[in-house]
Amino acid sequence: MPKRKSRPQKRRRRSVIAFEMIRLDRTAMEPLHEQLYRQIRDELKSGKFSEGSSRLPSSRVLATDRGVSRSTVRLALSKLHAEGYLRSKPGSGTFVANLLPESFLTADQPKTYQPIHRPARISDRARAIPDKRAGNQFDLGATGAGPGVSLVASIPAVDEFPIAVWERLRAQVLAKKGVNLLRYSSNRGDVDLRKALAAYLCDFRGARCGPDQIVIVAGMQQAMLISAMAVLNRGETAWIEDPCYQQTRRVLSLAGVKVVPKAIDTHGIVIARSPKEPLPRMIYVTPSHQFPLGVTMSFQRRTDLLDFARAHDAYIFEDDYDAEFRFVGPPLPSLQGIDNANRVIYAGTVSKILCPSLRLGYIVAPGQLVDSFVKIRSAMDQHSSPIEQATLARFITEGFFLSHIKRMRKIYAERRDFFIKQFNELLGDRFTLQVPEAGLNIVAWLKREEDFEMIKHITSEIGVRPSGLSFFCIQAKLKPAFVFGFAAWTPTQIRESLVKLASALRNQGKHPSQGRQSR
Ligand SMILES: Cc1ncc(COP(=O)(O)O)c(C=O)c1O
Repeated sequence: MPKRKSRPQKRRRRSVIAFEMIRLDRTAMEPLHEQLYRQIRDELKSGKFSEGSSRLPSSRVLATDRGVSRSTVRLALSKLHAEGYLRSKPGSGTFVANLLPESFLTADQPKTYQPIHRPARISDRARAIPDKRAGNQFDLGATGAGPGVSLVASIPAVDEFPIAVWERLRAQVLAKKGVNLLRYSSNRGDVDLRKALAAYLCDFRGARCGPDQIVIVAGMQQAMLISAMAVLNRGETAWIEDPCYQQTRRVLSLAGVKVVPKAIDTHGIVIARSPKEPLPRMIYVTPSHQFPLGVTMSFQRRTDLLDFARAHDAYIFEDDYDAEFRFVGPPLPSLQGIDNANRVIYAGTVSKILCPSLRLGYIVAPGQLVDSFVKIRSAMDQHSSPIEQATLARFITEGFFLSHIKRMRKIYAERRDFFIKQFNELLGDRFTLQVPEAGLNIVAWLKREEDFEMIKHITSEIGVRPSGLSFFCIQAKLKPAFVFGFAAWTPTQIRESLVKLASALRNQGKHPSQGRQSR
């Protein structure tokens, strides 16, 4: 018995039209029953009612829901009946009529328009971002490397990331802080994380800062965007290195900044400028390890840069993206640490130290800029995930961060040595390696410049994909070279890739016309 009863009830509930959008105005001149009639009619006119959802609520339910008398409802419904919008089924209720009035059928029918083929309207801001990619090329991320492709620059060994430790710490912080980690949270970032990072940066990067100067961000790109938006007006000038990390140029263009490329010499960014050149308001540099050339900025250039910034009221944006991985000589302190004039905006990221997908980074801002940075973050996306921030804080305070860096430095040093040795053996006839003191990439200069296009073609065919150095150049006219990554692959994989490349190049040498024809 209860079973039989529950079935039709269920069906009825599903099929009743809700009329949730009806709003009756008791102060209006129009009588309530007229308002109700008109709004129900208009909703029926939307034409979205199929056989399965064409039942009206009972007059009692409608009256209660809308807070009017049943007679008001009856008046409205009787008019709809009279005009042919509704039909009654004795014992079942009131339904939308099967054959609707002529006016009802035609009233709001969408007009058929001739399709107009015109290009989508895209903002100047989007157009101004220098990015030739299209469609799913964006889905491969900044490195453009699909799975299975090897020796791509800038990729860390994410398979060495201690997932089990991270998961344990994540569970611990969730158990301890519970729902507090599920709420909107600080725009500055988790306070424990800011304390832990300040201690780490002072001890290991020679920085001079306190937790109040730190703003947690979603990686280096966001650090750049926030900094540019906070200290530069549209149209003002930022200097960037040339060649440069290509995302820097894109981010600064997004911020509406005029980007001026500056050459790199053996000391780092070249500061000299012609009197016609506008003065920069911000100077983007990678002093620990220039990307992509690998130059470490000399002490003299560091002090010159700081003097220049002080003299011309410019800020220096120090991108310290992979300084932890230095293989030769003692670690060099950050530029921020020798800045006495609050000129340096220092930024770091966990993308290389841990993994890029965490999207966590940090800005150390001169005290007087912090509030503006936080203001922009709050208008942008509020904050990074509190759960991941709290987990990272614990990961650092419990010593896993330092031990992971140490372990990875060792792994990377071994891979780097192995790569250099194998590369010189297998490909030394075609390339000269420029071995940097730090970082996860190595530049290989071509011995025969004319081979560049052929090698580019072959590398993309065989899935061994170093980037052409020219890809990172804006105005710089450098000799042809490729930037190889070595960090994310085991020695066996490195050897396999280099052997594959060497033999593809050898075969190309035997049949030089083949590769060129297929290009
Ligand atoms: C110079 C430079 N800065 C920063 C990053 C990393 O940025 P993010 O923290 O946005 O992943 C990279 C990655 O390759 C880089 O080459």
